[in-house]
Amino acid sequence: PAGVVAITFADLRRRGVIDGMVLCDVSGARVRAARETMARKIGAVYKDMDLTMTTLPDDDVDFDPDAFRAAIAHMKRGDVVTIFTPDDTHFKICMACVEAGLHVLCAKPIVKRLEDHTALAEAAKRHGVLVAVEYHKRFDPIYVDARDRVRAQLGPFSYFSSTMTQPKAQLDTFAGWAGKSSDISYYLNSHHMDVHAWSVGRTSRPERVVAMAARGAAERRLKPSDNRAIEDTITLMVHWRNDDDSAGVATYTASWIAPRADSHTQQHFHIMGHEGEIRVNQAKRGYEMSTDENGFAQLNPLYMKYTPSPSGHFAGQGGYGYRSIEEFVRAAEEVNSGRATIGDISGRDVLATVDTTARVTAMLEAGRMSLDAGGAGVRILYPDDLRDENAAPEKEAKRLKNGKAVDCEAEPVGLRLE
Ligand SMILES: NC(=O)c1ccc[n+]([C@@H]2O[C@H](COP(=O)([O-])OP(=O)(O)OC[C@H]3O[C@@H](n4cnc5c(N)ncnc54)[C@H](O)[C@@H]3O)[C@@H](O)[C@H]2O)c1
Repeated sequence: PAGVVAITFADLRRRGVIDGMVLCDVSGARVRAARETMARKIGAVYKDMDLTMTTLPDDDVDFDPDAFRAAIAHMKRGDVVTIFTPDDTHFKICMACVEAGLHVLCAKPIVKRLEDHTALAEAAKRHGVLVAVEYHKRFDPIYVDARDRVRAQLGPFSYFSSTMTQPKAQLDTFAGWAGKSSDISYYLNSHHMDVHAWSVGRTSRPERVVAMAARGAAERRLKPSDNRAIEDTITLMVHWRNDDDSAGVATYTASWIAPRADSHTQQHFHIMGHEGEIRVNQAKRGYEMSTDENGFAQLNPLYMKYTPSPSGHFAGQGGYGYRSIEEFVRAAEEVNSGRATIGDISGRDVLATVDTTARVTAMLEAGRMSLDAGGAGVRILYPDDLRDENAAPEKEAKRLKNGKAVDCEAEPVGLRLE
């Protein structure tokens, strides 16, 4: 965690924004390794970083999947938790934190199933805590500007296409869970699905998903002994419907079999509306470096800036990786002090709060269902779909009271394999 989360919390403590840290894993050896990495990459590099913290479980514990419960016991209502554990553990840990009255910022994908997303959103509401997905692209100044232009200048949504790839060498570190507890679509497509859904706002909604995958390279590299399928590249094709009754289509592609390149994560998106289009390439910021030791690389200090200030302090407070965490901590503080409600925070449309992001989970789960069903279509259902099933046919053709053809404000309520 040293690279982004730990460094950010250590610096937030230096700046007086937080006052203590608890670190938890399933394995004592990993906790020890995390402390050592933090000492080397944070304590030894930047001035005034206080890394004292409670760590769980004890260093000599081999494996304790419930260590997070002990960590929760060290915290008090209103404290902030960040969860960066494998995708299939998020729901259980998030729920336990919410029930203990903790505000939760969880890595994407927040959960793997729509049903779990809805349950978590309801629990967060019941317990009065803030729960959000750590979609740091929402703090990238270019993406923020693109979102505002999409809303102001592009007109009704028509087409979105994103690609995000990582090098196959990284697959080795994912060998334990790749193709078992999660897939590359959950892992990478989630980012641009959120960017897309956030950009079009409540003027459009995803309604139908078809997924396809390439296979062969990942399985050849990892040679899974349990015969599990590990897709190389997954493309989800999603049909969106706009509230003026026009339709759009989106394709989200994610891969983890790319070659090593000048940028660890190659990524770009293209969005077209009825009145314009935008293209963004996040991997190429026009800032390049080459050294004898490491060769050629694209740099992106807009995410995390690691070079210290002349005074020797960490100087990356403006990076969107950092801001994504600080904004959450500050929002939680506003809720704790009564200066804002959970609804106020959601309404600002900055953080990816759990009550506004179910459509991304719905698309991800539908994609998995489609792959498992050989590429069949999966419908994303909304409250009006369930109502219309029992209504007379002529009612379906009627416009909604607000003149819209379809209710794009509503959260999805179910999935149906065609
Ligand atoms: N920039 C990003 O947005 C970004 C980047 C990488 C990963 N992620 C997300 O972060 C999460 C973690 O990814 P990773 O590659 O670090 O995974 P990982 O497999 O390395 O797991 C992270 C740590 O979680 C620990 N862990 C597992 N089960 C646990 C439990 N029940 N309680 C406490 N700790 C537990 C593991 O021992 C490991 O040290 C994933 O959901 C992934 O999608 C997000």
